Amino acid sequence: MQKILVTGAAGQIGSELTMALRRKYGNENVIGTAHKTKPDEALLESGPCHFIDCTEINTIAEMVEKYKVDTIYHLASILSAVAEQNPQFAWNVNMFGLYNVLEVAREYKCAVFTPSSIGAFGPAAPLNKTPQDTIQRPSTMYGITKVAGELLCDYYFKRFGVDTRGVRYPGLISHKTLPGGGTTDYAVKIFYEAVKQRKYTCYLKAGTYLDMMYMPDALRAAIDLMEANPSRLKHRNAFNVTAMSVAPEDIAAEIKRIIPEFTMDFKVDPVRQAIAESWPNNMDDSAAREEWGWKPEYDLESMTKDMIENISQKLKIKID
Ligand code: NAD
Ligand code: SER
Repeated sequence: MQKILVTGAAGQIGSELTMALRRKYGNENVIGTAHKTKPDEALLESGPCHFIDCTEINTIAEMVEKYKVDTIYHLASILSAVAEQNPQFAWNVNMFGLYNVLEVAREYKCAVFTPSSIGAFGPAAPLNKTPQDTIQRPSTMYGITKVAGELLCDYYFKRFGVDTRGVRYPGLISHKTLPGGGTTDYAVKIFYEAVKQRKYTCYLKAGTYLDMMYMPDALRAAIDLMEANPSRLKHRNAFNVTAMSVAPEDIAAEIKRIIPEFTMDFKVDPVRQAIAESWPNNMDDSAAREEWGWKPEYDLESMTKDMIENISQKLKIKID
């Protein structure tokens, strides 16, 4: 029987992954943990839920001991744009939080899933078909913590036998919980503004290509990787995974097929633009496909249709 602890359970991924894990493994077997943001009622009421600070190791250890946890999905993190505003804070949460999780996992023999990111690559990496194994050298604090985190997770696997696994997520698009301050957040906001205002002002330039993925695929990636046969894994931390490579105007054009009056203009934010330009245009995720059968289900067209349907229902705004 798996007993799973999720950190960052109130976040964009955690709010959905915790519920997906509860559906798969049973409500009582998945312990959601949040920090300052309160999770929604469904998450609070459907299973165990606590507040922890991952920079305080005892708060993690208490949960693992109390519930006899054997698997940790460690999602607590500071995202790229917020990290650039306060790099010291991001280093503290992203590095010490992960170190504490790994130390607890070593002591209590837990498996650990930790997401890395497209942000783990920097301007020296090939921009197109960015390989699984290549130079990384990111130029952001977020990326530096992601590369260091990948190395630390691999170290804990090789040195202590902790079953660590991770993916390099692209920008994630979802309609349940708003993103937490990343560079790719525009790709969520554009859908809300399209439904509410029929127009959107984008902070990234036209032609800024980035990998993206719809949340149902991201949840499947995490669970499938943790379920994968370890003997097939040549890599561990962390696998490139992607579903689509898009620029803002590609998403806008797809939205226009459903909301013809939608328009988009641009007011570029130089900080987030510089971050986006240092990241891949599109990653090569063939290692994930070969080693654990990764395959996305949603493309830009099917994701756009589903996002608009769900956001218009949520906001009670009819799309004719
Ligand atoms: P998010 O910002 O939505 O959620 C992160 C959560 O961490 C928040 O709810 C926050 O309260 C919590 N947190 C912050 N400090 C904490 C602390 N000291 N102790 C405990 N919890 C704390 O982030 P997300 O989008 O859900 O991302 C989850 C993971 O996936 C992160 O590692 C992120 O880097 C990675 N990732 C996300 C994306 C994306 O597009 N969402 C893309 C690539 C990688
Ligand atoms: N969506 C994330 C960010 O922009 C990518 O890791 O920070």
